[in-house]
Amino acid sequence: MSERRTIVVATPVPPAVIEHLRAHADVVDVSAQPPASWPGAVASATGLLVSSGTPVDAALLAAARELRIVATASVGIDNIALDVLRARGIALTNSRGSLNAAVADLTYGLVIMAQRELPQNIAWVRSGRWVRENPPYSHDLAGATLGILGFGAIGLEVAKRAQLSDMRVIYHNRHPRADDAQTGAAYCSFAELLGRADVLVVLVPLGPQTRGLFDAAAFAAMKKGAVFVNVARGAICDTAALLGALESGHLRGAALDVTDPEPLPPDHPLLARDDVVVVPHVGSATVETRTRMALLAADNLIAFLHGEPLLRPVEL
Ligand code: DGY
Repeated sequence: MSERRTIVVATPVPPAVIEHLRAHADVVDVSAQPPASWPGAVASATGLLVSSGTPVDAALLAAARELRIVATASVGIDNIALDVLRARGIALTNSRGSLNAAVADLTYGLVIMAQRELPQNIAWVRSGRWVRENPPYSHDLAGATLGILGFGAIGLEVAKRAQLSDMRVIYHNRHPRADDAQTGAAYCSFAELLGRADVLVVLVPLGPQTRGLFDAAAFAAMKKGAVFVNVARGAICDTAALLGALESGHLRGAALDVTDPEPLPPDHPLLARDDVVVVPHVGSATVETRTRMALLAADNLIAFLHGEPLLRPVEL
């Protein structure tokens, strides 16, 4: 009989996921303990289950001397010291494919909020102006152009929802997709995306090429009166530049599921604005989707323990 190996769970997961893992390995759940206390627990771990909020940095990996695999219950991997994994031949898996609908629903909710100016209207009602004035008008979704930066599986789901509202969909990726005729979305350059989108949605991963991509110049190149929606990672956008574009009136609004810093301090100027809606990084945060993501991460670990092909390997 092969020896039982240890999996360290460093992110909260449903009890059923822990039980599922326990059928295949010894499980140490450190998710309720502060990261500073993890190095001792990971010393003999073969596998580590994390999520996008878990700092998997060089110091933690140095303590995890026996580590062979990291499975993240997320799509994003920007919290993980990838160079260390690469150098040590540690495998990485993510949970892509298990959260597309939930993230697309949240994204499209934010698109509707921003384009129909719901935060402004809610603030207007709360301010008591409804008794004396007619509310300001917003803009149609139908006929407006939705620009998607990062048109992968989640982007396709967002496009489907937007097309039901008769929005025109354009996108920018490093390369055009081969299925534009089927998706009904049109490829364009980044500059065109900025210049043409009435609603611009950011879905690209955070990496060296996308960190700070939305700076003052990018916002200035956006169409006047456009709205900006970020559901990817906060650091893709320079927060001060976004604030500047809103303050000058160049942008009509913003809807953010992710921010930089994250979380925003309660007295941050973005939170005081009626033309901005911020939700706390909840794109995939439904009971069903988060359970599916955690189970997929666990199944990746179990496959590894049994020497079977990984379900969602990430190339390093
Ligand atoms: C992801 O999957 O990366 C999302 O940001 C949720 O963690």
